[in-house]
Amino acid sequence: EKPESMSLYPLGTAAAPEPELLCIFGTGDLGRSLGQRLLQSGYKVVYGSRRPHSCGPVPQGAQVMSHTAAAQSASVVFICIQREHYGFLEQLAPQLKRKVLVDVSNNLRKNLYPEANAEYLQRLTPEAYVVKAFNTLSAWALQNGPSDSNRQVYLCGNSTEAKEAVTEIATRLGFSVQDRGSLSAARELEDFPLQLFPLWRLPLRLAFGLTAFFFFYLLTRDVIYTYATQKKDISFRIMVSLANKVFPIVSLIMLALCYLPGVIAAVFQLYRGTKYRRFPDWLDRWMLCRKQLGLLALAFAFLHVLYTLIIPIRTVTVLCRTDCHFKMKENQTSELDTTIAWRSDSYYSMGILGFGLYVLLGITSLPSVSNALSWREFSFIQSKLGYLTLFFCTFHTYLYGWDMFLRSSYYKWYTPPGYMLSLLVPSVVLVLKLLLLLPCVDRSLTRIRQGWERTEPQ
Ligand code: HEM
Repeated sequence: EKPESMSLYPLGTAAAPEPELLCIFGTGDLGRSLGQRLLQSGYKVVYGSRRPHSCGPVPQGAQVMSHTAAAQSASVVFICIQREHYGFLEQLAPQLKRKVLVDVSNNLRKNLYPEANAEYLQRLTPEAYVVKAFNTLSAWALQNGPSDSNRQVYLCGNSTEAKEAVTEIATRLGFSVQDRGSLSAARELEDFPLQLFPLWRLPLRLAFGLTAFFFFYLLTRDVIYTYATQKKDISFRIMVSLANKVFPIVSLIMLALCYLPGVIAAVFQLYRGTKYRRFPDWLDRWMLCRKQLGLLALAFAFLHVLYTLIIPIRTVTVLCRTDCHFKMKENQTSELDTTIAWRSDSYYSMGILGFGLYVLLGITSLPSVSNALSWREFSFIQSKLGYLTLFFCTFHTYLYGWDMFLRSSYYKWYTPPGYMLSLLVPSVVLVLKLLLLLPCVDRSLTRIRQGWERTEPQ
């Protein structure tokens, strides 16, 4: 039902490169920015306007005509108009026949209309070739050209030739293009700019939930318990002591949650005996946000380290005024207990090593760094060193707890100390990982990942 050929201008022959003429409908911010960028990239630009003589300023070098005249003069027309005003394009359909129409529009919120803007445009002008493109860029990005973080242009459309024409233009403007398929993908593209940190949402909710839970848990165990049983007010501890428990606990759990889905995925593959079956959706989604989960966990670890740094200052300036004063007067000296010294030095050291590797993981997840690494290097750091980080941090916490779990006085109101809860997920992940590293299990898993499939007995 679609005509075979199109009247596209041949692009720049080597001998006499006559600048190609492109048409823009709409002289708003987006239309003007796009026009300016096209002119700078060596195109000629003509604007189509309802009021060609009073449409406001357009970039220097561009012409303004009526919609009909402008549409007739070019083979590619950018529609920089809001969807509500598309109606008049229906009357223009004969002039837009066989033209490439680039729909750059966006909506203010999702599901505002039953069909995507680009599909609506295609319905109004059935014989034009509609391509959805450029809508993920702001007017600012269009005018200033691509920057490192803003190089990608997504497009979709039903005509391959039309998409090629738009790809040529986008490439000449300095963008890199990703083809997302037919026009039915337009709705997805139109939803892109409306998403607010989509991959951060789950990790942020988790961080918030865990922080709130542990805050109230520890508040009850430490502050309220002391008040209820000894009538002593130690609520000042909320600011430093409590914070310095909540942050590392949440950090450790979230770090472990970065590695848990990988282990679960391996168990799935072993159980199913193939790598070719899809993981459940929840596991996919969880795997996709591991980086954000890890970066948040790193931020919490940073807070723990900063709080730990001020503990000696706080002890000297606030607490020693009361407590140490008496101790010094009594002039007591006690024997150095080497076991205790070993324990505390080791847990500091484990914490520092863990934190060092944690920072390394964070740095290598930045696109500019990870792009400079090969896939093997990246996965070595994120996987092998990742598990080592988890091990150091977990060991740091075990050493900190030491024999606390044996003493009943720590189970206030029959609840375990916070650090014990924080050890649950990391311990499960590390034990599962160790099991997966057993030679017989590792061998099967490697074979499955290389494409081997276990055939079910008939
Ligand atoms: C507890 C030091 C890194 C997780 C502690 C404590 C100290 C400490 C002094 C005891 C706090 C207290 O007495 O209340 C350090 C140092 C680190 C470091 C010097 C690195 C420079 C880490 C990292 C993690 C971590 C990277 C992992 C996320 C924990 C946990 C606790 C703890 C879960 C127990 C919190 C509690 O319930 O009291 N650390 N740490 N630490 N640390 Fe670290």
